[in-house]
Amino acid sequence: MKAFIVDRYGKASGRLGQMPEPELRANDVLVEVHAAGVNPLDSKIRNGEFKLLLPYRLPLVLGNEVAGVVLRAGPGVQRFKAGDEVYARPDKDRIGTFAELIAIDQADVALKPKTLGMEEAASVPLVALTAWQALVDRAKLKRGEKVLIHAGSGGVGTIAIQLAKHLGAIVATTTSSANVEFVKSLGADVVVDYKKDDFEKRLRDYDAVLNSLDAQTLRKSLNVLKPGGKLISISGPPDPEFAREMGLSWGVRQVMHLLSHRIRSAARRRRVSYSFLFMKASGEQLREIGRLIDERKIRPVVDRIYPFDSMADALAHVETGRAKGKVVVKLR
Ligand SMILES: NC(=O)c1ccc[n+]([C@@H]2O[C@H](COP(=O)([O-])OP(=O)(O)OC[C@H]3O[C@@H](n4cnc5c(N)ncnc54)[C@H](OP(=O)(O)O)[C@@H]3O)[C@@H](O)[C@H]2O)c1
Repeated sequence: MKAFIVDRYGKASGRLGQMPEPELRANDVLVEVHAAGVNPLDSKIRNGEFKLLLPYRLPLVLGNEVAGVVLRAGPGVQRFKAGDEVYARPDKDRIGTFAELIAIDQADVALKPKTLGMEEAASVPLVALTAWQALVDRAKLKRGEKVLIHAGSGGVGTIAIQLAKHLGAIVATTTSSANVEFVKSLGADVVVDYKKDDFEKRLRDYDAVLNSLDAQTLRKSLNVLKPGGKLISISGPPDPEFAREMGLSWGVRQVMHLLSHRIRSAARRRRVSYSFLFMKASGEQLREIGRLIDERKIRPVVDRIYPFDSMADALAHVETGRAKGKVVVKLR
């Protein structure tokens, strides 16, 4: 099958080539890929930034989210049958959506929202699961609570703003001047234009912050929280709890302890909590997200669609850090 393959880690690496068809396990569905979402995670894996956390065997087929059609189901599969239109974020240990076919455990798959085409559906799983796990599972956002979502115009931000509004929260976000009206249209109540204004000075007494930006933004975010507030970061630094959850070695756990020491101490001094989140695959949560999409509570935002032959250009576009919503590659 045709696939986008990483033979060795590095910035310019990755090529279109042929790989064997994936092996179908008992609980897997074999999905014919129609479209795949492209994320900063793909370029970070390709560049080798995740070697320690995700020790993949090379050559690796890249790609972390997909929409497509079930071709075959393993003998243990009850939920899906050939012909079903599905979407998924495959388990982190079994990625490879930049290919004509992928085998995915049924637990990680859901039926595609009926109101979306394949390209839009492919843009949803990784970012929507991230937003869900940050805002619902971890922040436990309630009606009337205040949340700051950084980078509201990005892949995660565009969905997180809409999900937080659906949960009844008051939503502040940061973005550049060009995207102020856009994030308002997604439902943001307070917009801080980072080109003109400093969010740290404008916002007070927030219940939660979802950080996806750099270390300086992370530190400043502590000051907008009220006591008991939660700072949740998806862009690091990883913390010891995450290392434990991932079952990482003692050495790596120590590294994560050190990397997050400063922010954890600063959080404690301000009587707020810090945690790192690395999203997980979940077919069950994708079903809930699909329901919200079909009820028109959340709509995906696709910035650009590339043909599969332009995979490298799609990754380069994501790497600019300027995508407005999501980037998608189309295979069929
Ligand atoms: N841990 C996890 O499970 C997890 C899951 C998903 C993503 N992530 C990470 O989260 C980060 C964001 O992911 P993404 O998919 O949302 O990225 P993205 O779509 O590539 O983000 C691009 C957006 O970020 C905005 N932006 C850039 N600098 C900004 C700043 N200083 N202030 C406010 N907005 C800014 C840009 O808006 P302007 O053009 O207006 O600046 C652009 O719209 C990445 O590092 C990714 O790897 C982690």
